Amino acid sequence: MTYVRVAALGELEEDTPKRVEIEGTPVSIVRTGGEVFAIHDICSHANVSLSEGEVEDCAIECWLHGSTFDLRTGKPSGLPATRPVPVYPVKIEGDGPDASVLVSITQES
Ligand code: FES
Repeated sequence: MTYVRVAALGELEEDTPKRVEIEGTPVSIVRTGGEVFAIHDICSHANVSLSEGEVEDCAIECWLHGSTFDLRTGKPSGLPATRPVPVYPVKIEGDGPDASVLVSITQES
């Protein structure tokens, strides 16, 4: 499994998603509740960037129609989205704000 560095931990603001591209795949990186998650950045309902939505209770909300997706599983909590969004494994290497945030998109977690 190949991990790609996407940010330094200190660059990620709590509950403020950061959109990155990994080998052409848009991924939203979310730091919340002391953990970092990586979720595919496109809503499963329509072509909307999830990183423009709000983060709450370990979920990210699609701003267009309001479905929220669990950052741990990618599953939607309610309509209109019915299909999950891929989530990806995250590794933190190092300590403090300079620690590297690494994501692998070669395998969905
Ligand atoms: S586009 Fe995301 S819920 Fe409709």
